[in-house]
Amino acid sequence: MNTGKVDALLGIVFGDEGKGKVVDFFTPKYDVVARFAGGPNAGHTIIFDGKKFVLRSIPSGIFDEHKVNIIGNGCVIAPDLFMAEARELEAAGYDLTSRLHISKRAHLILPTHRVLDRAYEAAKGKGKVGTTGKGIGPTYSDKAARIGLRVGDILDGFEEKYRALKARHEQILKDLGFTDYDITDDERRWMEGVEYMRGFRLSDTEHEINALLREGKNVLAEGAQGSLLDIDHGTYPFVSSSSTTCGGVCTGLGVAPRMIGEVFGIFKAYSTRVGSGPFPVELFDETGDTIRHIGNEYGAVTGRNRRCGWIDLVALRYAIIINGVTQLVMMKGDVLDGFATIKACVAYRKDGVTTTDMPFDTAGWEPVYEELPGWQADLTGVRRESDFPPAFKAYIDYLERQLATPITIVSVGPDREATIIR
Ligand code: GDP
Ligand code: IMO
Ligand code: MG
Repeated sequence: MNTGKVDALLGIVFGDEGKGKVVDFFTPKYDVVARFAGGPNAGHTIIFDGKKFVLRSIPSGIFDEHKVNIIGNGCVIAPDLFMAEARELEAAGYDLTSRLHISKRAHLILPTHRVLDRAYEAAKGKGKVGTTGKGIGPTYSDKAARIGLRVGDILDGFEEKYRALKARHEQILKDLGFTDYDITDDERRWMEGVEYMRGFRLSDTEHEINALLREGKNVLAEGAQGSLLDIDHGTYPFVSSSSTTCGGVCTGLGVAPRMIGEVFGIFKAYSTRVGSGPFPVELFDETGDTIRHIGNEYGAVTGRNRRCGWIDLVALRYAIIINGVTQLVMMKGDVLDGFATIKACVAYRKDGVTTTDMPFDTAGWEPVYEELPGWQADLTGVRRESDFPPAFKAYIDYLERQLATPITIVSVGPDREATIIR
């Protein structure tokens, strides 16, 4: 019998590429949608039938009652935020308990992890990462230090384990002199969230997913964040704390490398980054402001301005290699509709040296641009490739040549409908 495959849809830049939209669009083709990394630092926007949802921990396949949705072991989960997110979906008429499975091995974000996140950021001064403040780094640190709490822990002797880890955190905060915090309300909601989570299917999702694959079912692994925020391959230390790249699919779900099928790499027609860290293509001028304004580039989780710039082919080529991307998905082409000229960063230059390979540290490198004519036409109503303006088609052809990878899906608006398969 043929086994199923795990296809991956991975953000290959700095996150917010439009993963939520495309996972939702792909869902009809799959039996299972699974998150394998990250937590409520993610904000995945899905728009259909005049409705808008921003998902943080729950996979974007949740709107189809016939699909299994999994929060895998590689994820971290905050019970209070999960409860709020799930209740919003329930209020909108989606019954989650039947279709959502949560790994017992996923780690729990405690209220004190969030305080630690703030404390570590405050202690960093100028070198702040600009985290989302959701406790991601401290939770993954405890996981690696082998002292974390997992979802499965809430099923047995939880109070004691919770108190012990909280006490440890309080001691660290005291040592840091970070004592001006009050988690009373947070903790109450968090405990309520733990109780609420007990009503869900908390399971050994690695067994479930492999059993489904053996039955021939297909899985879509939904990435969070982006490759340049990966703990190993991103712009360290200005990264998140999980494995956001393709290897993370295997470890974060418990599936073997040979089960991976297509790897979809998703990117925008331009670049954005939220938070601190080097960003060679960043535009500080009017063009950057225009892209931010038209692209509505304000964080889905924190509301922060996203930093904007032209497309970065150095970063994309690197991410394509690291992930083994087989197909590219280009989002937000419509945002560049009004530009007479469009630039693409083909190399970085510093101190007379030019490179097309991603350097160890991207700080201080200047972008080398090539210029292309803009299409200066409205893409938002386009639904067929044959209706692409010639200059837009030329931009896609140029990117495919530069990246040596086919762009098989093009998005020209936030709605589910504004998606073109090539
Ligand atoms: P994710 O984190 O990768 O799921 O992406 P986000 O949801 O954080 O950010 C993507 C934003 O772009 C959301 O506001 C989407 O509604 C919007 N969006 C997605 N695709 C398109 C597109 O093709 N055109 C435009 N204009 N907006 C899009
Ligand atoms: P989605 O899944 C964009 C960024 C933060 C910060 C860094 C570390 O919506 O694409 P963290 O809170 O994870 O410790 O923050 O990573 N970041 C994201 N940027 N999209 C995301 O997720 C992000 N998740 C984290 O802004 O720079
Ligand atoms: Mg996002």
